Amino acid sequence: CDDTCKDPSSWETEFPRCGGLHQSPINIVTRKVHVTNNLPPLIFIGYTDIINITVENKGHSAHFALPPSVRLTGGALPGYYRAAQFHFHWGGKGRPGSEHTIDGERFPMELHIVHIKEPYSSLAEAQHDRAGIALLAFLFEETTDNHPHLDTVIAALGLVQNNGSATVIPNFRLSDIIPPASDLHHYYRYVGSMTTPGCEHAVAWTVFHRTLSISSRQLDAIVKQCRFWTGLPMTDIYRPTQPLDDRIVYSTNSGTTPKSVIHLWNSFCLAVLLTSALTQ
Ligand SMILES: *[C@@H]1O[C@H](CO)[C@@H](O)[C@H](O)[C@H]1NC(C)=O
Ligand SMILES: [Zn+2]
Repeated sequence: CDDTCKDPSSWETEFPRCGGLHQSPINIVTRKVHVTNNLPPLIFIGYTDIINITVENKGHSAHFALPPSVRLTGGALPGYYRAAQFHFHWGGKGRPGSEHTIDGERFPMELHIVHIKEPYSSLAEAQHDRAGIALLAFLFEETTDNHPHLDTVIAALGLVQNNGSATVIPNFRLSDIIPPASDLHHYYRYVGSMTTPGCEHAVAWTVFHRTLSISSRQLDAIVKQCRFWTGLPMTDIYRPTQPLDDRIVYSTNSGTTPKSVIHLWNSFCLAVLLTSALTQ
């Protein structure tokens, strides 16, 4: 097993970037985000296609592989991105396990959909581009009702309990587990890193304002499905929040964040900053 399995505080001995600046995840302080009109909606391509996906227990997390027909653009991203995989971060029984926190609040679970910029074909190639990877993050909120499509995912996790085991979910649709695109116009954007080694500093992060629902029954089921490579229960799989350093978190204008008046000149400056941050 690689160092992903060790305690996050020891990652940097083998992966120096993990101890560097501009790491992820972060705590988003809504009072301090820069509200901008320059974050248009993302454009989801192939998200409604019916696909067969392979789920594999990677020893530290379970990855759901996505075909390259699932793509992403828009949202002020510099180009088109191809989906690679999605995975979840969770806590333990009764313990929340999201990676990003909002005003210090940790959510029960977080979904990450990883996309690699075209024409790169791997994380290794994309990591040299500051926006080589586009990561979509969805925070889950505990509800009394079940998430209607999450049981497929839970059942699949039950079939990949041990490191290296894999299964296929037939007839899966990504759009079944996330809200419709029309509900995803509002999000936070910042530039950061992968949250596992090597902590590649190449990620344009999108954290949606809209949360996903999960019942306590589903949450309990998820956290007890898998085991780490060590054989211990796979719980609390999230990296602690990292310092913001000199970064700015941008947000689309919506009711859930404080609205601030932005003059035309300010918007122009933000657009320039954002574009340069993403294309450096
Ligand atoms: C999914 O797998 C089934 C069974 O192997 C196959 O019949 C079907 O064509 C596959 N669907 C897609 C979209 O690839
Ligand atoms: Zn992740």
